[in-house]
Amino acid sequence: MILITGGTGYIGSHVAVELVINGHEVLIIDNLSNSSKKALEGLKKITQKDIIFEKIDLRNSNALEKLFDKYSFEAVIHLAGLKSVKKSNEIPSEYFENNVQGTRNLISVMKKSKVKKLVFSSSATVYGIPKSLPIYESSDIGNTTSIYGKTKYMVENILREIWEKDNEWQICILRYFNPIGAHSSGLIGESPKGIPDNLLPYLFNVASGVLKELEIFGDDYSTPDGSGIRDYIHIEDLSKGHLCALEYLSDKHNISFFNLGTGNGFSVFEIIKTFKKVTNIDIPYKVVGRRSGDISEIFADVSLAKKNLNWTAKKTLEEMIYDGWNWQKKNLNLND
Ligand code: NAD
Ligand code: UD1
Repeated sequence: MILITGGTGYIGSHVAVELVINGHEVLIIDNLSNSSKKALEGLKKITQKDIIFEKIDLRNSNALEKLFDKYSFEAVIHLAGLKSVKKSNEIPSEYFENNVQGTRNLISVMKKSKVKKLVFSSSATVYGIPKSLPIYESSDIGNTTSIYGKTKYMVENILREIWEKDNEWQICILRYFNPIGAHSSGLIGESPKGIPDNLLPYLFNVASGVLKELEIFGDDYSTPDGSGIRDYIHIEDLSKGHLCALEYLSDKHNISFFNLGTGNGFSVFEIIKTFKKVTNIDIPYKVVGRRSGDISEIFADVSLAKKNLNWTAKKTLEEMIYDGWNWQKKNLNLND
């Protein structure tokens, strides 16, 4: 059985589908701070299976210990954590507690129970401001622009140290670029609580009339059209990367790091244009100042994941937007 922490969240729910349809037994834990049990209904419809769910907070070591006593896990895919860059700078201690201490608790219970296979969701944010592009796994890390980024960097370092002290561990660290879109069934997707910070969820809410206009955070970057460039990746492709990571770990006692992206960058204006092409909807927008902590441009080199994980992203930007919008149309109200 595979434990997925944060499994009712955006990425976790898609990873759960990918694992279950490929024959894995899955158990999800989540404290539901940024997701709801509704995701489990979508999971059941897609997979035709009941997935066991336990409401557990990673900050509660006792609850984790009981869970590991009750079930026998083969591996853990660890996605639970807080992810808002903005909030991380407002309430840093919550980010350190949930993301860093929460991971420490998980690791210590895993160690006690001799479960030493772990896939961890890190982020391209660990690379900070890129010195050159594309970004390789060997590029500099640590010069992060937010507390959120710092927590990911800290967890990566903790995992490195754990592996150095005990080579029995099998650890795969996945650095996600910008996951967007939704499952092609339209039954699960991203439902952030409150007003979204990220581009696509915000844009979808503008398209559906819930929010008035999109603010473009700067058109004066040194990119071809002046807006920020990111490596957007379809959530289904990203999820498949986790399955490949588990397969990769089956016979390797090492710690490894992989970029999960497409290798292509798109600007904010290109996203708006592609949305119009796919949906025929115009997005009202205005250009405002740069967002603090934003970088101009980032995209991945993805050859290492191709070589070692036998994984590449296949879906186009059009498919990402089509599937994301398909999900969003059915979930128009902002959750609170
Ligand atoms: P999400 O908020 O949808 O999912 C995270 C889940 O973790 C939520 O369901 C939340 O309720 C749960 N959670 C938070 N703190 C917890 C705790 N202390 N105990 C138990 N559960 C807790 O976010 P997501 O987009 O699915 O991201 C999943 C992971 O991937 C996060 O660690 C995030 O930092 C990382 N990541 C996300 C992105 C992205 O663009 N979405 C990019 C890079 C990395
Ligand atoms: C952000 C985080 C990153 C995190 C990721 C997923 C920052 C600096 N980085 O990435 O650490 O891993 O989310 O949670 O916040 N944009 C607009 N208007 C908007 C929203 C975004 O113009 O309303 C622009 C941004 O300036 C950027 C692009 O759209 O150029 C993508 O932004 P976003 O979706 O927030 O992702 P990142 O900033 O790449």
